[in-house]
Amino acid sequence: MSTILWQGRPIPFHPGESLASALIRAGVLILGQAPTGQPRAVFCGIGQCQGCLVRVGGRLVEACLTPCRTGMDVFPEDGEHDV
Ligand code: FES
Repeated sequence: MSTILWQGRPIPFHPGESLASALIRAGVLILGQAPTGQPRAVFCGIGQCQGCLVRVGGRLVEACLTPCRTGMDVFPEDGEHDV
């Protein structure tokens, strides 16, 4: 099975699976911290709430809309990985 990397941890995914789905299935429910201090997490699942923002290659993406690709390096959106 192919994997993405969540903070360096390999997370397996199925073909066509979103980042959110793969992360949730692996038990990763908190995806970072919003400016308000609230934890980021999947809420709407359709790209509307921005609750699932994560960083991939220095860019912010919605985990619920972004398909996994082998070797994707994914980080929480907590301001620590700004480029
Ligand atoms: S869960 Fe709402 S935008 Fe992804």
